[in-house]
Amino acid sequence: MRPCSLTEVGEHASAPAPALGTTPLLPLHQTPLALMSRRASGILSFSGMSLSHDAQRNRNAWDRFSDEYQAEHASQLNDYACVWGIWNVPEDELNVLGEVAGKDILEFGCGAAQWSIGLARRGAHPVGVDNSARQLEHARHLMKGANVDFPLLHANAESVPLPDASFDIVFCDHGAMSFADPYKTVPEAARLLRGGGLLAFNMTSPLRMLVAENPRTEQPTTELERTYFNLHRFVAEDEGAVTFQLPYGEWIRLFRLNGLVVEDLIEVQPSEAATSTYDVAPLEWARRWPAEILWKVRRSERGVGAGAHPK
Ligand SMILES: C[S@@+](CC[C@H](N)C(=O)[O-])C[C@H]1O[C@@H](n2cnc3c(N)ncnc32)[C@H](O)[C@@H]1O
Repeated sequence: MRPCSLTEVGEHASAPAPALGTTPLLPLHQTPLALMSRRASGILSFSGMSLSHDAQRNRNAWDRFSDEYQAEHASQLNDYACVWGIWNVPEDELNVLGEVAGKDILEFGCGAAQWSIGLARRGAHPVGVDNSARQLEHARHLMKGANVDFPLLHANAESVPLPDASFDIVFCDHGAMSFADPYKTVPEAARLLRGGGLLAFNMTSPLRMLVAENPRTEQPTTELERTYFNLHRFVAEDEGAVTFQLPYGEWIRLFRLNGLVVEDLIEVQPSEAATSTYDVAPLEWARRWPAEILWKVRRSERGVGAGAHPK
């Protein structure tokens, strides 16, 4: 379930923290990466952190979806090929992350960490953070099978218990930048990046989120339905996940306020022969209009801007 169907836009509220985790707690924002590394292959859990209502809802949803999601998409995800999005566009073709060998990389909403496994095989030093304990159990299982080892952190990407300037790259592919509030994740990613570091994320496009869906097939039509100017938060039907998207100008203002400079915005177009286990859009639709967008922004050397919210 990379993207999901959308029904409503609204405000979010706070809720008490859940009791989670079996691993010992460390002081928030003081967790040395070196200590995490010594615990490699264990999942570090931070049950003392308060979760927003949306983060709690998404944790419940992803814990519930996880087994079915991993089974449904194993054939697409589990070859660790470092490919982007619902159409498997190769990193080697897009060259978003650049050289990864020796780099400290945070996967922001790593799921079962298939991307990070691929990056570890290319010589990177990944850390996976995810809000769902069940997704991280899948990650641990896959890592063992792939014979790679790196830290997994059970925490909310809106508030990651790691020190400032820990990473050269923060990235995700339909991860926390889609399922957590950008007004919290953009400042948090900027905080975690070293000067000159890269934030890259692929997500469902604003256009795909604005079009009407065929009620029978749930596939996108060619008709605009939702309002562009109040893009922010979408709540799926039933108990599904909450997802986020912003108007383009709002993204750019949010990046700039947090010391991030736009390098590229790739509107991902699948090849004619592309296949997918996801049903976000039919191939013919995605060949005509972008169903996904991939932001590539770089943290300036001058330090993070004071702001988090452009309004
Ligand atoms: C579609 S998966 C992305 C993982 C992988 N790239 C994939 O395509 O399967 C989305 C992941 O984001 C995680 N997620 C959602 N909200 C999050 C948050 N606030 N902090 C960290 N991870 C979050 C979910 O638990 C889920 O594992």
